[in-house]
Amino acid sequence: MKELLHTLQIQLAGKAIEEQFSCLLDYFPGRISFSTSFGQEDQVLTDIICRHRLAVRIFTIDTGRLFYETYELIDKTRARYNTKIEVYFPDHQSVERMVTKKGLFSFYESVENRIECCQIRKVEPLGRALIGVSVWVTGLRAQQSANRHDMPLLQWDEEKNLFKFNPLLHWRYEDVIDYIRKNDVPDNPLHRKGFISIGCAPCTRAIEPGEDPRAGRWWWETSKKECGLHK
Ligand code: ADX
Ligand code: SF4
Repeated sequence: MKELLHTLQIQLAGKAIEEQFSCLLDYFPGRISFSTSFGQEDQVLTDIICRHRLAVRIFTIDTGRLFYETYELIDKTRARYNTKIEVYFPDHQSVERMVTKKGLFSFYESVENRIECCQIRKVEPLGRALIGVSVWVTGLRAQQSANRHDMPLLQWDEEKNLFKFNPLLHWRYEDVIDYIRKNDVPDNPLHRKGFISIGCAPCTRAIEPGEDPRAGRWWWETSKKECGLHK
């Protein structure tokens, strides 16, 4: 796999994003999937995918705890681009067991409970969504967090047994905002209310100007601000 990764990395270097997609589609037709959380980066990628009619499947994970504004944006995006967006839900029995035993806000009580909830509501459905997929596309950017600084544009994910492609890796936040404005891309109105990185409603809050962009995620925890989707 290392050789193929190296070949692909060389082929992608210096190309525009739509050309990078086309190149990967030549290698993996019908096996490229983009996971969107409807964040601003994801909206840019949806716009690029739809604008260039790229044969990339788009899916999202509805944890059941998203903001009302995010749900509205899902349908707005679907309508705007006239595209199919596959929605994955968590396994209902796992959610029922957890909530019956620990209540609806167990994630505030301990890091273990929080990780359990993210595992059930996000990580497990992601695994299902990625079955049979060769290239997983994300909206990750290097600037978003220390964990993401050293990520490559294209990497081999040993655990998931697929390539992970992060086309916006080197974009700055200003580049994302600029693209959204110029192309009139729909985004979450919560971004105008102090939210930058948006996840589940009970686990996301607005931040103050100058704060770390991910400071509003799991704000009550001091350790790393990741949910396990991106190890
Ligand atoms: S998270 O790990 O902290 O939740 P973040 O919100 O920064 O991730 O989003 C980074 C990328 O992870 C997104 O661009 C998207 O590709 C993927 N992602 C995050 N949440 C979801 C979701 N609910 N459904 C689908 N993809 C998601
Ligand atoms: Fe559960 Fe919060 Fe993780 Fe969403 S972000 S899955 S509500 S712990």
